[in-house]
Amino acid sequence: MSELLKILGSRYPVIQGPIGELNDPKMVAAVCEAGGFGMLALGFTRELGAIKEMITEVRELTDKPFGANLMIAMNPANEKILEILAEAGVKTVTTSAGSPKKIYPKIHELGMKGLHVALDFSFALKAAEAGADGLVVSGCESGGLRTLNPESSNMVLIPLVCDHVKVPVAAAGAVADSRGYRAALALGAQGVQIGTRFLSAAESPASQAWKEAILNCPDGGTTLLPLGGMNVRIIINPRLAEKMNDPDIDLSQEYNMMNMGKAWRSGDFDLFPAGGGQVSASITEIKSVKDIIEEMVS
Ligand SMILES: Cc1cc2nc3c(=O)[nH]c(=O)nc-3n(C[C@H](O)[C@H](O)[C@H](O)COP(=O)(O)O)c2cc1C
Repeated sequence: MSELLKILGSRYPVIQGPIGELNDPKMVAAVCEAGGFGMLALGFTRELGAIKEMITEVRELTDKPFGANLMIAMNPANEKILEILAEAGVKTVTTSAGSPKKIYPKIHELGMKGLHVALDFSFALKAAEAGADGLVVSGCESGGLRTLNPESSNMVLIPLVCDHVKVPVAAAGAVADSRGYRAALALGAQGVQIGTRFLSAAESPASQAWKEAILNCPDGGTTLLPLGGMNVRIIINPRLAEKMNDPDIDLSQEYNMMNMGKAWRSGDFDLFPAGGGQVSASITEIKSVKDIIEEMVS
């Protein structure tokens, strides 16, 4: 058994990528029941009661292990959340968006393991040094938040990181089927984290409008939107395309990050464009989580 599978405890090394505040215990349980590692996305969630309810609901639906994602710099409630997770028997978390230095001693003190999400080589080395038990290494093709730096794609990043760290690596970014899964393993990763493909799954709680934005996304149909100190990968829509073509418009001033959650929940992508990875271009039908995972690991 690989080191990553030992940490996850799932049948397959296929991790559900957290998506902002988009949570549905049924989706988490569906991933677990299909052999993957389901995850609650707790990056922004501060309501401890709601977190306890979600954990209970997942537990009622599956006896398989599941985890949760914490966004280090975004959530002052992280320590409390970790305690709740540990008490509920959650053994593995992922951490992202911040320095892992302070949070890993707490994770280990609670008897848990953590995988830190690294968006480039230097962050990956720092996270391994800071005590992360494993890494989710996410190339520039991924959906979600990105740095403002020039970034490498997974074809470069995964082998580079794997050559320099001793901890296991899961590859995140552009994996949507068995070809991507096998490519990630060939590059040295022990598993994968899946964002956009699961976001558009039948059981995903994303709105129909969001799923359609992914299904209709052409090659080259995503871009990086600057948001203060970071970028976010989003799917280009007609309104955004107009703005991108206007030389007088500074895109960093056009959208407010505070509207992101509202827009993504409601499907109002003029308010804030839909999130999605480059791999959206190759996703053309909605499938169940079970079908996605079975095909992926086949
Ligand atoms: C809309 C969107 C929101 C995301 N939100 C988070 C998040 O809250 N925390 C996190 O660690 N990663 C987040 N991610 C990254 C995913 O969990 C995953 O690593 C990434 O999507 C992998 O790339 P893929 O979309 O090509 O599969 C997000 C991705 C997307 C598409």
